[in-house]
Amino acid sequence: ATQRTLSIIKPDAVAKNAIGEIISRFEKAGLQVVAAKMLKLDDDKAGGFYAEHKERPFFKDLVGFMTSGPVVVQVLEGDDAIAKNRELMGATNPKEAAPGTIRADFAETIDANAVHGSDSPESAEREIAYFFGADEICPR
Ligand code: CMP
Repeated sequence: ATQRTLSIIKPDAVAKNAIGEIISRFEKAGLQVVAAKMLKLDDDKAGGFYAEHKERPFFKDLVGFMTSGPVVVQVLEGDDAIAKNRELMGATNPKEAAPGTIRADFAETIDANAVHGSDSPESAEREIAYFFGADEICPR
């Protein structure tokens, strides 16, 4: 079924000038960008996004990393978009990511792992609404 998912191109991938290459992978896999913007997150915005990880030992580093430079947030739409995006990204830890995935090709560490993608329909809905108003989403 057609789904939407939230994708973030993280500061490490933006710094590598890999925005276009990463979005190409989404498009070549049949996902459409239906919303996109570049943002510099502050502590509140990044911390709120990752609120479910607040008690994890890596939370402070995660927020520090996500605020270290601009990110590109997008809504991707397509058949089975949530799972398809996760397949394209590869495992959270780039060292475990399958060859040819975005994280295997563009990331080195679990903190600076190039991309984020929603992990379920519930988180996709929350994450999309966290960054985009309904008037900013442009289905085609
Ligand atoms: P992301 O999919 O954006 O969701 C939370 C992020 O926390 C994750 O990608 C990683 O970049 C980061 N992170 C750092 N350490 C860990 C860990 N031990 N387990 C899961 N995520 C981690």
